Amino acid sequence: MKATDKNFLSENAFNMRWANVEEGHIPLTAADWDIEVSSAVRETVNAYLQFNSFPYGNNSGMDAFKKTIANHFNQRKNAVVNPEEVLATNSAAKAIDDVYSFLLKEGDEILIADPVDFLLAECARRKNVIIKRYQQRSNGIDLAELDRLVTSNTKALVICNPHNPLGYVLSKKQLETLSNWANEKGLVIISDEVWSDIVHTEESFTSIRAVNSNAWIVYGLSKGFGLAGLRIGAIIAPNEKQAALLADSQGYARTIEGASTLSQIAATAAIEKGWGHTQEAVSLFKKNLEQAVSAFNKTDFLTCEMPQGTFVLTVRHPSTWNTEILCERMVNEAKIHVVPGLEKWFGPGAIGSFRISLATTPDITSEGVSRICSWVNTYGSTL
Ligand SMILES: Cc1ncc(COP(=O)(O)O)c(C=O)c1O
Repeated sequence: MKATDKNFLSENAFNMRWANVEEGHIPLTAADWDIEVSSAVRETVNAYLQFNSFPYGNNSGMDAFKKTIANHFNQRKNAVVNPEEVLATNSAAKAIDDVYSFLLKEGDEILIADPVDFLLAECARRKNVIIKRYQQRSNGIDLAELDRLVTSNTKALVICNPHNPLGYVLSKKQLETLSNWANEKGLVIISDEVWSDIVHTEESFTSIRAVNSNAWIVYGLSKGFGLAGLRIGAIIAPNEKQAALLADSQGYARTIEGASTLSQIAATAAIEKGWGHTQEAVSLFKKNLEQAVSAFNKTDFLTCEMPQGTFVLTVRHPSTWNTEILCERMVNEAKIHVVPGLEKWFGPGAIGSFRISLATTPDITSEGVSRICSWVNTYGSTL
């Protein structure tokens, strides 16, 4: 794995990362790669660039892209997806937004995990969709709790699998239980599977599509393939008709919305030819996580558990500490940036923790983790 050029990152890596922090600071913040992506991406994009022409692509996504996404899910995620059900989107974030816009209206209620990545709540809030939070637990999602949250206005159960920021991966059995429950209640499942290429368990990842044919899937190439800046993701609709209806209602069919052809070409190459690269990256991220988990648990104050998936790690601190002040002081005094477990990032359930992202080199992992541990060991007793 080759580290991305540091100067390049300092100029180009935004979203609370290298381009946003002072020289000498380490940002273990937004979930993005500090290592180079598969060389197949550059080679394939270069070949396309030879024509020096950029015609409109197919509105709902290039055929090769849709076929590749379908194959990826069928071969590696135990799903049965037809290319016609795939829609190329401008990022996974936009995929969430479009699925919500298509399925929900103002005043509808949806069930979302607590904690979970802010985008799943933010996209709902912007449409005045009401958010009800269920606790994301290490042993799955508690149906009795879901039962208590459902009302006649509830329309969807939203799951994030693998889960950001806790790293849990739902097993096929857990998904079946959730699927049966949702069917019984007449709810649609929306499954954010943007992290599904990064799993550390023996068992391979199972998509919601393996157990629920009505579910909608959100997917993207920012986490598993390092293509965050290319803004490329996908929606997988339950069937071709629903995909076409969404494409029509959200402006894809009339060229108002859509994903860049260059990004789709890069994504197709990454999946088709760069899966081996992703596997190497996943091993690196796993080692980084293991190193961090071991170091934090040796401090007097911090605890964490090895994630089953993702390259992010939730680190818990004593409940008497103020999360925001802790994170601010670590920036100012240890030059280390983390994402504080605040409601605005993950929901109320994240209080008492912070999240770090470790899609980086072993050196940066060691240095970043060591800065956090030393700072906490020095000042922890005074907080
Ligand atoms: C759960 C989850 N969904 C969606 C996204 C957005 O991904 P993208 O940047 O590909 O839009 C993220 C990014 O961190 C995420 O963690």
